[in-house]
Amino acid sequence: MKTVALNNGVEIPILGFGTFQITDSEQAETAVQEAIKAGYRHIDTAQSYMNEEAVGRGIAKSGVPREELFITTKVWVENVSYEGVLASFERSLKRLGLDYIDLLLIHQPFADVYGAWRAMEELQKQGKIRAIGVSNFAVDKAVDLAEFNTVTPQVNQIEINPFQQQAKNIAALKAEGIMPEAWAPFAEGKNDIFHNAILVKIGEKYGKSVAQVITRWLVEQDIIVLAKSVKPERMQENLNVFDFALTDADKQEIATLNEGESQFFSHADPEMIRWMASRKMGV
Ligand SMILES: NC(=O)c1ccc[n+]([C@@H]2O[C@H](COP(=O)([O-])OP(=O)(O)OC[C@H]3O[C@@H](n4cnc5c(N)ncnc54)[C@H](OP(=O)(O)O)[C@@H]3O)[C@@H](O)[C@H]2O)c1
Repeated sequence: MKTVALNNGVEIPILGFGTFQITDSEQAETAVQEAIKAGYRHIDTAQSYMNEEAVGRGIAKSGVPREELFITTKVWVENVSYEGVLASFERSLKRLGLDYIDLLLIHQPFADVYGAWRAMEELQKQGKIRAIGVSNFAVDKAVDLAEFNTVTPQVNQIEINPFQQQAKNIAALKAEGIMPEAWAPFAEGKNDIFHNAILVKIGEKYGKSVAQVITRWLVEQDIIVLAKSVKPERMQENLNVFDFALTDADKQEIATLNEGESQFFSHADPEMIRWMASRKMGV
């Protein structure tokens, strides 16, 4: 699996397996085992996905040595404070059955992100986390965190897909040394993405599916791709993107699909911020 180097030298596999919305415990455990069997070495979970225990069981049962795996989890909003990170990180470790995390992210750009960041810097210094980062941060907020702290976030995990391409934001993050990760690369199937005429046509040229075209388009930009599927054949399909390349003409066509806005919601919407603040999950 191709890896890319984060700003502290840690290597991260460019394709990661997403576990959002796999809430059924048995299904999550099986999906993680199947994903590792298919070839994934990078698993993405979060406190709020309510599946850290099942993901941990899948990891343990995979039989792959811990040091060959790259595991990410994310701190939910109610834990975004200095004390909240220290306490909830230990709970996440316990649920996952691990003694270190490869990447810990602040899941949403709300609450006491500065306090949380200081705790994450300390945990990283103690060797309990290899890389630290943020998620859903607007570029200005990510750069602010970078410039006024010791550690520049290694990652910002944001929505990136053909309808929300974020080219300007990706360039700005990279200029700051922050690696973008793409969540919902397939827009969770919204906007009929798997039947999009341009993506289908490009795929037909190479004998590849829409999912493979999108994944390849992101890999060629050196963006880490997190894709979720509970189906083993789709896991294999989503990993099989290293035997073809897109042309400039293909990329120009994909560029025309950009709508320049989220397929889901805006993190700047006050209603959404109130909803996030109210979402106490006890994690
Ligand atoms: N930081 C954040 O706020 C945030 C937000 C959202 C997601 N994420 C992370 O990013 C990961 C990926 O995003 P996502 O799960 O939201 O959406 P996604 O990966 O864009 O889409 C997943 C959907 O696509 C289907 N699918 C997957 N591969 C396919 C293929 N080859 N052909 C046809 N359909 C396919 C899946 O169905 P089946 O499962 O039935 O195959 C599922 O319905 C998440 O799992 C999570 O780890 C992070």
